[in-house]
Order: sequence, then structure tokens, then C-alpha cells
Amino acid sequence: MSDVVDESQARYLAHQARKKETLIEIMRQRHSDRMYDARPVQEDLRGQVREAIGLCPSSCDRRGVSTVEVDSRDELALLSGLLVGGVGWIHRAPWVLLLMAREETYKAPGEVEFMPFLDAGAVIQQVMLRATDLGLATTYVNPNIRQFNRDHFRRIFGEGIFCGAIAIGHPVPGSPDQQHHQEKRAAAAHDRTRKARAATTRPGRPNDRPQATHLRGRRLALRARVARGRVPGESGMG
Ligand SMILES: Cc1cc2nc3c(=O)[nH]c(=O)nc-3n(C[C@H](O)[C@H](O)[C@H](O)COP(=O)(O)O)c2cc1C
Repeated sequence: MSDVVDESQARYLAHQARKKETLIEIMRQRHSDRMYDARPVQEDLRGQVREAIGLCPSSCDRRGVSTVEVDSRDELALLSGLLVGGVGWIHRAPWVLLLMAREETYKAPGEVEFMPFLDAGAVIQQVMLRATDLGLATTYVNPNIRQFNRDHFRRIFGEGIFCGAIAIGHPVPGSPDQQHHQEKRAAAAHDRTRKARAATTRPGRPNDRPQATHLRGRRLALRARVARGRVPGESGMG
């Protein structure tokens, strides 16, 4: 009996470990991407993103933030002019979610100043991770709209406390943002490997030598640059 329990417990733990790995892997993949394929985001994918929004935590479970979905060419073009953080590119996203908080939800003194944005933050992160998991590209755009454009924005997209927008679309392989992200990931992976090696290497062991040699090399190079007068230092200019 206890063998059975142990075995199922081991399977349970392995399952939990796999789930953890899935989430961290999605977090590693997520990045802002401002270039999108012309294809629309299909309805079944939209449904899965909406489901993720429904699972979001919210302050006092009030669900004060809702989304206005934008996918018409004219309205996307308008957003590209109105949203300061999306100027010149957001119209390329086939689906944009505007995050709107209802002012009347936030009744405690002063909370309307900050709570809508905290609620929106939970939605933003959840949407970006779920969309990444579905193979979609996203970018969050902050709610900055120039003063003289704000009434126009409200007339078209509705009243409420605007908490920013999430642009969503199918990715374009090799886009500049994707390349940048891959470079960042490669550097992070390299750093993790280096730290893991350092953690398993005790001082004075042969494996330390490459690092020591590396530092000696940098010291010599620095001395040569100081001697050539290109770095203020021992010359007294620093
Ligand atoms: C609060 C916040 C506001 C942001 N506003 C904009 C924005 O207006 N426009 C934009 O293109 N990106 C915006 N971003 C995306 C950031 O530029 C991006 O997350 C950051 O450069 C890190 O890159 P990554 O998302 O690829 O990891 C914003 C991100 C956050 C968290």
C-alpha cells in the first residue's frame, strides 16, 4: 500500500515540477514584439485569452477592469496616432485590448488613484503570458495620451479610466524585437551557466584558472591603455 502511495506521490511531484517548468519557460519566451503578421487572431485564440482574463485576480474580487477590443483597420490606425507609446506601429497589430477601469468600482477613499492600475497590471501580465503560450506576440502600451487628444479617444473608445493597451498578433519570425530577445536570452543563459559553474567550483581548484587568467588579461590591457594615455588612472588624471 505504501509503495503505491509513494509511487503516486512521486508522479504527483514530477507532474508539479513539469508544470513549474512550463510556466518559467513561458516567462522566458515572453517578450514585447511590435511587428505582427497580417493574419487576424482567430476566434478560438481570442476565446482562450478572454478565459485567462476571467481567471485574473482583482482587488476585492470586484473585476473593475474590462477590455474594449479593437480590430477594425480604421480604429487601429486611430490608436496608432493617439497612443503615445504605440505611435507608428500599433496599427500593425490585428487585435488590441484597451484596458478600461470603471471609476464607480473604486469607492474607498483615494483608491481610485492607484487600484485601477494595479488591477490592470494583473490583467496585463496574465494576458501576455497566456498569449505567449498560444504562440502569439504581444506588447503592452502605457495609457499616455496627449491632453488635446483625450476627449476624442473617449468619444471613440468609451468612458472609463484608461489603463493602457495590449497589442496582440501572430509573430513575424526574425522580427527586430524577437532578435533582441534572443540575444538577451542567450546572454542570460550564458550568465546562468557561468554562475552555476562558479557555485560548483571551490577556490584554488584548477577550474578557477580561466577566470584568474581572464582577470590578469584585463589588468594587463588596462595598464597598456593607461600607458597610452587613453584611460585616466595611474597617470593622475582620474
Ligand atoms: C509599465 C510598462 C509600460 C510600457 N509601455 C510601453 C509603451 O508604451 N510602448 C511600447 O512599445 N512598449 C512599452 N512597454 C514594453 C517595454 O518597453 C518592455 O517590456 C521592456 O523594454 C522589456 O522588454 P521585453 O518586454 O521584451 O522583456 C511597457 C512595459 C511596461 C511594463
